[in-house]
Amino acid sequence: MCGIFGYVGKRDNGLELVVKGLQKLEYRGYDSWGVATELSGELFIKKQVGKISEAKLEDFADKKTGLAIGHTRWATHGGVTDINAHPHFSSDKKVAVVHNGIIENYEEIREELGRGNFISDTDTEVIPQLISKYLKEMSFKEAVQKTVQRLSGRYAIVAIAVGENLLIAARRGSPLIVGVGEEEYFLASDIPAFLEYTQNVNYLDDNEMVILDGNVEFLNIDTGTAIKKRLVNIDWKAESADKGEYDHYMLKEIMEQKDSILRAINQNTDDIMHIAQMIKDSRGCFLSGCGTAGKVCMAAEYFFSIIAGRHVNYAPASEFPIFHHFLKPESLLIVVSQSGETADVLEAMEAAKGKGAKVLSIVNVESSTIARQSDFSLHIKAGPEKAVASTKAATAQMALFLLITTAMKGELQEGRRILAEVASRTNDMLNPRFLNYIKEVTQKIKGHDNLYIIGKAENYPMALEAAIKIQEVSYVHAEGFAAGELKHGPIALITEGTPCISMIANDEVKSDVINNTIELKARGAHIIGISPDKHEVFDEWIKVPDVGVASPLVNIIPVQLLAYYLGVLRGLDPDMPRNLAKSVTVK
Ligand code: M6R
Repeated sequence: MCGIFGYVGKRDNGLELVVKGLQKLEYRGYDSWGVATELSGELFIKKQVGKISEAKLEDFADKKTGLAIGHTRWATHGGVTDINAHPHFSSDKKVAVVHNGIIENYEEIREELGRGNFISDTDTEVIPQLISKYLKEMSFKEAVQKTVQRLSGRYAIVAIAVGENLLIAARRGSPLIVGVGEEEYFLASDIPAFLEYTQNVNYLDDNEMVILDGNVEFLNIDTGTAIKKRLVNIDWKAESADKGEYDHYMLKEIMEQKDSILRAINQNTDDIMHIAQMIKDSRGCFLSGCGTAGKVCMAAEYFFSIIAGRHVNYAPASEFPIFHHFLKPESLLIVVSQSGETADVLEAMEAAKGKGAKVLSIVNVESSTIARQSDFSLHIKAGPEKAVASTKAATAQMALFLLITTAMKGELQEGRRILAEVASRTNDMLNPRFLNYIKEVTQKIKGHDNLYIIGKAENYPMALEAAIKIQEVSYVHAEGFAAGELKHGPIALITEGTPCISMIANDEVKSDVINNTIELKARGAHIIGISPDKHEVFDEWIKVPDVGVASPLVNIIPVQLLAYYLGVLRGLDPDMPRNLAKSVTVK
């Protein structure tokens, strides 16, 4: 939620560079944007409602500076207005700040500083106002430190002050990474924002501050003690984080699944065996995640049951802490997250750790907060996922659960064989004819306002996941159901022509799902069957490979495409759905 970017260094086009960096962070928030620097001894701030992708670099070409900050916003406190856009600044126009997160005690600080001094409705504005107050009595570094010591909530901030040729940043709970170049430093919410300039990074951890001028200095917010950091080299290619030949990241990421599933096979055997043993040794194993990652956890519940004969409980991360009564030091919580920064997941982890339980994470962003706060973390290696709708991360996460559960059964090699087949058959499936056919099917249903999806066993979570995909990129009302639940209520929603997707595998529950599909058809539904085999009940048949228990991995892909085309055909931008952001770092 919200993207922040800062630059200090040898170049004099700092503002342009910040705008370009923010454009790479647009997926984190796109309702308004802004930049700030010091020009001729005064604060220069430009901020406005709109997408950062629409900002024009030439507007900043004549403003020479080697130090600048910027922000692309996903509104939490205060509506989407120019004034509420970041950077926020102090009344004396000496200090400017960009912020990602929520300051929980902002009301109390506003009261203390005098409500009349505030011009925005945001929680953020208290930060530059406090820094400026303290700056009258102490150094910029001390003023920022004293300010952040007073803040409660989760935040990542970057501050500048007139007359101080440095950036100061601090974090608690929201991501912030330092890119270390030659005679220059970058600060960003996510690595791809500065990847074209440097692949060397320092991760800022919770309760840490960093001061960047010609040098870099890390310190603990509470004690002021200096901290030594390890320089980490990131082996992503800048182009892997770009759209390439595709119109949208979402389509690019859907198409990449043949590779991302394959990469799961190359996971280190020792790591997979270690995880399998951790799960076997645990007494009480739980799964948690949010949104799509949560649906992956639900699919994993079936893998644990069907493949490894083990009962594992799932709860959405926002609900998980409520179950803390069941946690013991021998319990294991497995969390799944693409970004590795989701606030609800971090809270679930805190609840588990509070009871002495161990935490295992499966993330796509190595060294993310969730990864670093886990006892053991597995990196899914799907490559950067930029579209808000999660696609390749989800299938790669499911691939890992397939490996883990086959390893628990002592059949890791068989797990690898299944995944190799899934990857190769996904490659075959994602051909231009297949894409055109999905587009044709989508054309037929694009005018409908309601769409239902059914599935059973390991495809029930995929029906739920299919609904999320369609909702978020096309705004069509979509709902997923366990196929057998239809007759207990939802079937009343079906009228003549209602599009219904039936997700089927060649498994022992196939005939049940076919029967439930026939029940839908009898009420007039227009049936889109996703299945390895054709059936007369289907009005449209989307053929998927028969990959046995791995069916969720291939069955979800046509729905990802259908959701994508539905969004495009309805004139929407699938990469940037309204009201959403890629990384949800607020509760
Ligand atoms: O980064 P995470 O995997 O923790 O994110 C969890 C959800 O916010 C995410 O899956 C969300 O539901 C996606 N927009 C779904 O496509």
